[in-house]
Amino acid sequence: MNLFVSPSKILYGEGSLNKAGEEAALFGEKVMIVTGKSSCKKFGILDKLIKILEDAQLKVVIFDKVESDPSVFTVEEGLAIAKESKCDSIIAIGGGSPIDAAKAIAIMLTNEGDLASFQKQKPSVKCKPLIAIPTTAGTGSEVSKYLVITDTVNKIKMLIGGENCVPEVAILDPIVTLTMPANVTGTTGMDALTHAIEAFISQKAQPLTNMYALKAITLLSQNLVKAMKNGDNLETRSNMLLGQMYAGLAFSNASVALVHSMSRPLGAYFGIPHGMANAILLPKVMEFNRAACPEKFAEVAKAMGENIDNLTIRESSMKAIQAIINLYDDTFLPKKLSAIGVTKDKIPTMAKDAFNSVSTSFNPCKPKLEDVISLYESIYD
Ligand SMILES: [Fe+2]
Repeated sequence: MNLFVSPSKILYGEGSLNKAGEEAALFGEKVMIVTGKSSCKKFGILDKLIKILEDAQLKVVIFDKVESDPSVFTVEEGLAIAKESKCDSIIAIGGGSPIDAAKAIAIMLTNEGDLASFQKQKPSVKCKPLIAIPTTAGTGSEVSKYLVITDTVNKIKMLIGGENCVPEVAILDPIVTLTMPANVTGTTGMDALTHAIEAFISQKAQPLTNMYALKAITLLSQNLVKAMKNGDNLETRSNMLLGQMYAGLAFSNASVALVHSMSRPLGAYFGIPHGMANAILLPKVMEFNRAACPEKFAEVAKAMGENIDNLTIRESSMKAIQAIINLYDDTFLPKKLSAIGVTKDKIPTMAKDAFNSVSTSFNPCKPKLEDVISLYESIYD
């Protein structure tokens, strides 16, 4: 049996941010905004949201301390404010980090137990009403059942998930992504493309997730570099936002796989931005996986616009890997771990963490621990 979950409502399109007040009012008069420390403020997006909510006669509480890769401490701080304010709903606005932190707060408001316990046991009660508004085009967190919170003490990126973690409403307004810097556009876009490819080849893939994943691969591969070069083009930004949302729906229901298992330790130990870590890992992990599902790789090549007429499945599948390498070349983002501050001595520890990650169990082929070590080494220098 296949299960497909998504938010109850997805509002998409230019100006959809203006509907935030109307949507929040459905849950009650008090709303808490969860956001990051700077970008939403810098570009006036936070002020705009506050005005929209106040115009809808809502009382607004703000928690604006979410760092990138939010920690358990940050979630606890936000949770205390949410409890004290007795908010009726939460609005998360920003990249994946504020949205994930807001999800964690929303879960803790309705479920017993500490955050770490939800890694093994899914939250049993639906989280507090949550409206998620992404300002980057990458994580798909606004439509997904997953969240990642960093345990800074044990240096672990905790993966939490379950049907009760899906936001109630997602609002996708491409206008709020126009100010995203090129490097963030590149790394978050590569994260989204990785979601789509991993969901498509996952052992949990199903017809609905395949449909979203392939469309996401097309939209993201055709628009990522354009969005980096020409960030104020609304059509390109719209396509990126839609593509990453499709990728989010795909991986939320089909899981990610080995790339994500291996990128989480790079974030936990060295603070490597999630999308960058995925992008560096993606081609080598694709090479490792190709023989397990060459037909699917051929479909990826086709979705990326490669001409696979008269090619064998093997040749077509190789084209998918080359297309990813070519695309990443065009982003001018780093390609080796040694260039971004990763030290080689940590590879065995990271490999063990990645090997034991639940995402690895959905990879199209089961790697040995030595395979994971070799993969890290192959992208080191
Ligand atoms: Fe990701």
